[in-house]
Amino acid sequence: MSGDPRKTAEGLTYLSGFGNEHGSEAVPGALPEGRNSPQRAPLGLYAEQLSGSAFTEPRAANRRSWLYRIRPSAAHPPFTETHNGWVRTAPFTEAVPDPNRLRWNPLPEPADGTDFLAGLWTLGGNGDATQRTGMAVHLYHANASMDRVFSDADGELLIVPERGGLLLHTEFGLLHVEPAHVALIPRGVRFRVELLDESARGYVCENYGAPFRLPDLGPIGANGLANARDFRAPVAAYEDVEGPVEVVNKFCGNLWRATYDHSPLDVVAWHGNHVPYVYDLRRFNVIGTISYDHPDPSIFTVLTAPSDTPGLAGVDFVVFAPRWLVGEDTFRPPYFHRNVMSEYMGLIEGAYDAKAEGFVPGGGSLHNMMSAHGPDRETFDRASAAELKPQKIDDGMAFMFETRWPVTLTAHAAQAEHLQPHYDDVWNGLERHFRPLH
Ligand SMILES: [Fe+2]
Repeated sequence: MSGDPRKTAEGLTYLSGFGNEHGSEAVPGALPEGRNSPQRAPLGLYAEQLSGSAFTEPRAANRRSWLYRIRPSAAHPPFTETHNGWVRTAPFTEAVPDPNRLRWNPLPEPADGTDFLAGLWTLGGNGDATQRTGMAVHLYHANASMDRVFSDADGELLIVPERGGLLLHTEFGLLHVEPAHVALIPRGVRFRVELLDESARGYVCENYGAPFRLPDLGPIGANGLANARDFRAPVAAYEDVEGPVEVVNKFCGNLWRATYDHSPLDVVAWHGNHVPYVYDLRRFNVIGTISYDHPDPSIFTVLTAPSDTPGLAGVDFVVFAPRWLVGEDTFRPPYFHRNVMSEYMGLIEGAYDAKAEGFVPGGGSLHNMMSAHGPDRETFDRASAAELKPQKIDDGMAFMFETRWPVTLTAHAAQAEHLQPHYDDVWNGLERHFRPLH
């Protein structure tokens, strides 16, 4: 099990490390020693296993946790279907797959009383949640804390706040998440979102496939990129609440609700590796060229969700963090390219070095499979003429969800008022400079 819990600046205590066996108890003696399911669990608790992988998956891929709770999860009334709001799930069939480069402004202001779940707005995605393949891109804009509890059977949720702090109350304990952090809620884990500011805005990658993990490092060596020790799991904290609590469960694309007679966030102790995490993107160890050209953006991969094909991710989470550019005789911004993978990009703060304007925090762009993109004209002209002294890019934090299949939009994303009408124009005016020598 992991070592000593660590206090952080936010005042919460966390367990350090990614993917390893953690354990925590909110009450001394609540976590049984030596066995997972003793005849009588300590303190009158119920023992329950939560499996995030098949029982028989290889040890390196196996995920499960044991929860010691006031009531077993099985003690609940029937679920009934409820409104999906703006949430949609793969397969995405509402719109024709679009080869165009697309860009959105931030989501509009929500109505008063919109919580994280009601404020969740699906942009699109791919795969099939019932086949546990593919992913969805969501955005959220909320102005109220949840007084209900949510869990997603369809996939894990990578939450990327852009505005406003969040306190995630999970079955495993509390996570404080703020812009430039990401939080990972595993499949099936119940949680509710408390807003720490007047409103909260951000992005969510819902990953239906194999869970996110740290990428292999190959020749980089034993350290670098996102370091495992910087991922923080919560220590156990529980709610002992009797009384009606609404629980919403996302299952095969639909939201279902039930009113429990207690809070299901009643886990007093737990151990395992199927646990939520928070990670501060400012701790990412950025690696780049110290000679010429620059590596493909895969060098910025924070987390990868592998597919059955080695090296081909269902989805990668990639961050463009502050970094030095020192390449000699090199066009330093992202180059022009076409990619078999599909790229959704968002901006957490500041600016992005491939675009002069129009790509704003809270907005996003979609460059689908094989669509041609790259720097806009202003960026191209500036970077082509720039004096190549060492330069620090320190005014922005952008990210990408890069996925193996094209992203098909929801109808509301394809028709959104905040979809920019003339994104193609950023590549207007890229003049012909070709002058054959003859
Ligand atoms: Fe790209």
